[in-house]
Amino acid sequence: MKKAPLIIGNWKLNPVSQKAAVTLAQATIKACRGTNASIAIAPPFVYLSDVSKKISRSKILLAAQDVSTEPLGAFTGEIAASQLRDLKISYVIIGHSERRARGETDSDVVQKVTQALKNKLTPVVCVGEKERDAKGDFYTTVAKQIKALTAVFGTTDIKKIVIAYEPIWAIGTGKTATVEDVKEMQLFIYSVLTKVFDRKVANSVKLLYGGSVKPHNAKVLHADGGMGGFLVGGASLNATDFAAIVKATE
Ligand code: 13P
Repeated sequence: MKKAPLIIGNWKLNPVSQKAAVTLAQATIKACRGTNASIAIAPPFVYLSDVSKKISRSKILLAAQDVSTEPLGAFTGEIAASQLRDLKISYVIIGHSERRARGETDSDVVQKVTQALKNKLTPVVCVGEKERDAKGDFYTTVAKQIKALTAVFGTTDIKKIVIAYEPIWAIGTGKTATVEDVKEMQLFIYSVLTKVFDRKVANSVKLLYGGSVKPHNAKVLHADGGMGGFLVGGASLNATDFAAIVKATE
C-alpha cells in the first residue's frame, strides 16, 4: 500500500526566540509550497501557539516534541495531551532518544502514547539503538522498544502509531545509516509487528527514518530505504534544506 510520505521537522531546542520561530515557520511554508507530502514541524512548546497561528492556513501540521504521562493535575512543568489538542496539534514525538537519555522508560512511552491516543494526537514513537555491533544485538534493542508497544496496544491503536527508527549514533553526527541499514531495519520492524498482528496490520503502520537526513541523502534513503518518510532534526532549521528533503520523497 502506497501512502503519502510524512516528513516531520523536529526543531528540538531551537530557535532562539519567538520571532525567529515564526520566521522559520513562514519560510518553511513558503519553501514547501506545492509539495504533496504530509509535512509537520515540531517547535518547542513555548512557540507552538504562535507557530500554530502562522501555519493555520497552510498544509503544514504541528507536532509537539513530548507530552506528559498524566492527563492533568499537580505535575509541575508537564504539558498534557488535552492541552496540545486544544492548540490543534496533530502529532506528538514520544520516546525520542534525547528524552530516553534523560530517564524516559518504555513504560513512560506507553503512558504517553495512551494519553496521545485518548486525545486524538498521532504518536510518533522513536526507537533505535545506541550503537551497532557485529552480532546484530542492536536488533534486540529495537525489538524490545517495539514490543513494549505491542504488549499494550491492539490492532486499532497500533495502526494509529507512527514508528520512527532513529539510530542514536546517526543523530546529529552526520553519520547517516546506509540505505541497506535502513531497509533491513524496515523489514525487521515489519517482521516484529507481523508476528504480533498480521502482515496487513503491520503494513499499515507508518515507519519513518531519522538521523542526519540531509538534502543530499534524502532521495536515495527514501527510494530504497523502504520507510514512509523522515524525522528530520538539524536540516529542519533551514527551510530550503527541509523543503529539499520533502521534495526528495516525491
Ligand atoms: P538530525 O537530523 O539532526 O540527525 O536529528 C535527527 C533527530 O533526532 C530527529 O528527531
